[in-house]
Amino acid sequence: MIDQLTAIQQTSLAALQSVTGKEALEAWRVEYLGKKSPLMTILGDLGKLSKEERPAIGKRGNEVKVLLEKAYADKVEALRKAELQHSLTAGALDVTLPGRPIVRGRLHPATQTLREIYAIWAEMGFQVYRARDVETDEYNFELLNIPKHHPARDMWDTFYTTTPNVILRTHTSPGQIHAMREYCPQPIRVILPGMCYRYEQISASKEIQFNQVEGLAVGKNVRMTDLIGTLAEFVRRIFGPERTARFRASYFPFTEPSMEVDVDCIVCGGQGCAVCKYTGWLEIAGSGMVHPIVLRNGGYDPSIYSGFAFGMGPERIAMLKHGITDIRYFWQNDLRFLGQF
Ligand code: DAH
Repeated sequence: MIDQLTAIQQTSLAALQSVTGKEALEAWRVEYLGKKSPLMTILGDLGKLSKEERPAIGKRGNEVKVLLEKAYADKVEALRKAELQHSLTAGALDVTLPGRPIVRGRLHPATQTLREIYAIWAEMGFQVYRARDVETDEYNFELLNIPKHHPARDMWDTFYTTTPNVILRTHTSPGQIHAMREYCPQPIRVILPGMCYRYEQISASKEIQFNQVEGLAVGKNVRMTDLIGTLAEFVRRIFGPERTARFRASYFPFTEPSMEVDVDCIVCGGQGCAVCKYTGWLEIAGSGMVHPIVLRNGGYDPSIYSGFAFGMGPERIAMLKHGITDIRYFWQNDLRFLGQF
């Protein structure tokens, strides 16, 4: 029986040599290590042997079994390696090639700046109010105290449509009327962001479309000092605590009094340079106390209520923050520009 075991060992190992695939290997395993294999039969029948024979046969049988199991495990590993090697060399797909990088999207620099602006105003209690891009002449001008044929209309070169009195809004200010008419007589604290359109000669500083963020606060005892303090705080939050705001008398038909808001030049710190045109100041917004006529058009009695308003250009703010020299970059969709933010 010892000879029989040796013969099993020899034939099975020889047979294993010629195994080249998974299926053949499994067949080999069943034939030589399976329950009904000669080896397992011998090991299973040990009990039938005499006491004298049993230890030697048992020992040898186990030796063969361990040997075959080891040979089997080695073959499994060898086949796995061969398979990998095959797929690396023979397959059309070279899995060792580095993958193509996935282009990562990001927010447009104007959107990033808008969100920064929203966050600052949100902290000061202003919520976003969305108004329409397409307006009537009434909302864009008349209700804002800019009558037809008034010379102040020259401040806004307008895109008209083929529908009489329907225009693309030239500023976000008409949203003030929409917000007031919706909330009257409650107090209001909103910002109104969105795209505006003007019939402009496009240049490094002028585009035919651009964003504005309008602000509006209406209530009892809303005062000029509230406006100045709020805007000064905004300037520090968006440009940094070391910045200073300057307020300059100006004119807008929908505010009285009106002011222009400047920040000391980010580039030269107020010394004077090409960016600030040697004035030391950069203009970032228009503002003022809401004109009584506008308050009334919104439904508020100007003898009881007052309000302040402002309008700023986020692209211009982004240009100042990042040192962008040409506003046309914003809507040119050049990834070399957009990818920098
Ligand atoms: N609507 C003005 C413009 O587009 C900007 C502006 C100025 C808005 C003063 C305001 C304001 O709310 O009070 O030129």
